[in-house]
Amino acid sequence: MIYLPFLNYLYRNFTHIALRPTTTQMVAAIMKHCYKRNLAVVPQGGNTGLVGGGTPVFDEIVLSTSLMDDIINFDPQSGILICQAGCILKNLQDYVGNYGFTMPIDLGARGSCQIGGNLSTNAGGIHFVRYGPLRRYVTGVEVVVLSNGVVLDMITPQPMQDSDFKQLFIGAEGTLAILTKVAIKCVETAKCYSAIMLGCKTHHQVTSVLMDARNVLGHTVSAIEVMDSAAVSVVDSKLGLKCPLSPHPFYALIETFSNDEDQNIDKLSHILSLLENKFGSMESAVSLNQTQLSQLWSVREHITEALKRDGHVYKFDISVPIAKYFDLVDVMRHEIGSYSSTICGFGHLADGNLHLNITSKQYDKLLLNRIETILCDWLVQNGGSISAEHGIGFHKAHLMHGSKSSNSLAMMRSIKAHFDPKNILNPYKVVQV
Ligand code: FAD
Ligand code: MLT
Ligand code: ZN
Repeated sequence: MIYLPFLNYLYRNFTHIALRPTTTQMVAAIMKHCYKRNLAVVPQGGNTGLVGGGTPVFDEIVLSTSLMDDIINFDPQSGILICQAGCILKNLQDYVGNYGFTMPIDLGARGSCQIGGNLSTNAGGIHFVRYGPLRRYVTGVEVVVLSNGVVLDMITPQPMQDSDFKQLFIGAEGTLAILTKVAIKCVETAKCYSAIMLGCKTHHQVTSVLMDARNVLGHTVSAIEVMDSAAVSVVDSKLGLKCPLSPHPFYALIETFSNDEDQNIDKLSHILSLLENKFGSMESAVSLNQTQLSQLWSVREHITEALKRDGHVYKFDISVPIAKYFDLVDVMRHEIGSYSSTICGFGHLADGNLHLNITSKQYDKLLLNRIETILCDWLVQNGGSISAEHGIGFHKAHLMHGSKSSNSLAMMRSIKAHFDPKNILNPYKVVQV
């Protein structure tokens, strides 16, 4: 049985067979066999996905890349890393860090998620505001195409950004092919990172933080994260981790980087003084060293884990207009507050990416239906989208029509049919065929 470390029983399914190949050739042989015998396969990386994309729905075979974890080459001149798809993100971060480089992605699941899973979900993460989408840094992929198990190698020694269709496989959530190797351009590491946490009283203060942080930091911004008091309280009550600030309705965390710590701190203090000129005194905490930086991040990075201990979690990762960032959280509290335990909002403010999380003592299908109806209506009325960075997976496949036109969906189905005519590669996920 495959257990999901991060999710709840909704996605905890059975498989009779879990395969862990070590080479591309083994993956190709497996796919040839499965194609011939009409056997459905679910590609699985670190299994940290939050939309049920990497687990079987019925009895599909799990093809795990966890033993495909070789680093093949790193070129310190170009910054290009070539590795197998099963390498754990944190291991890659540490490896290229030794050469003064950094991976153009970071996220809380870094210690378990794999680079193949990151590419397959086109994951966002806390540094999206700095680097933009991961797909921008992918200079090549090697995939096993399902239809005949053919290996399609699109990794070239001299990467040519737009000369092939590798981008099609990035963000495809394992529905078109299995990624076996990747080539990624890493970025040079800055020497110092510093952060400020600010206590905010209103939505308006939160959006002002974003504007001032952007204006002062420009391209030296590396994260602009927010969380509300319910998210902070659950981390305290379930994990005993205290927020460094006294209770506030909202908290913002701004991180900057440069080669000079004093410069970072000057900039962060300048943001604070701009805000205090507008709103009067604000409570804040600035990191003066690496330990304090980790402390400031700690509450934010433990929200997911704390919520899991609060009952069944209904997770929604959505795109919303920044001006209305927390509005939907208030709507949910008003509509379903009495049927749930915790309703909280947190996420990547600069990207308009809200994580709306609701918990109840146990899974309640009626409550889920109610939440989805309120959510979809709100998104249509306010111009948002059902998905932001986690993907569609199984969880959101039935909600796709709310955010995509029927023409787009038809095109996605025809691409799927082209690569996977028997619909045996991660069926029931993303597009309903
Ligand atoms: P899995 O969960 O194993 O799979 C995810 C999807 O990719 C599935 O559809 C699977 O079939 C497919 N897949 C995996 N490997 C391959 C492959 N080699 N070839 C083809 N398809 C494949 N996500 C974000 O975007 N931003 C965040 O900030 C973020 N933070 C997180 C924090 C925590 C604490 C947790 C638990 C999760 C977080 N996530 C975040 C979600 C998750 O970590 C990402 O989606 C991650 O990219 C998934 O990687 P994985 O290796 O675990 O993939
Ligand atoms: C995060 O930003 O912490 C993640 O996307 C995880 C989550 O949404 O739970
Ligand atoms: Zn996130």
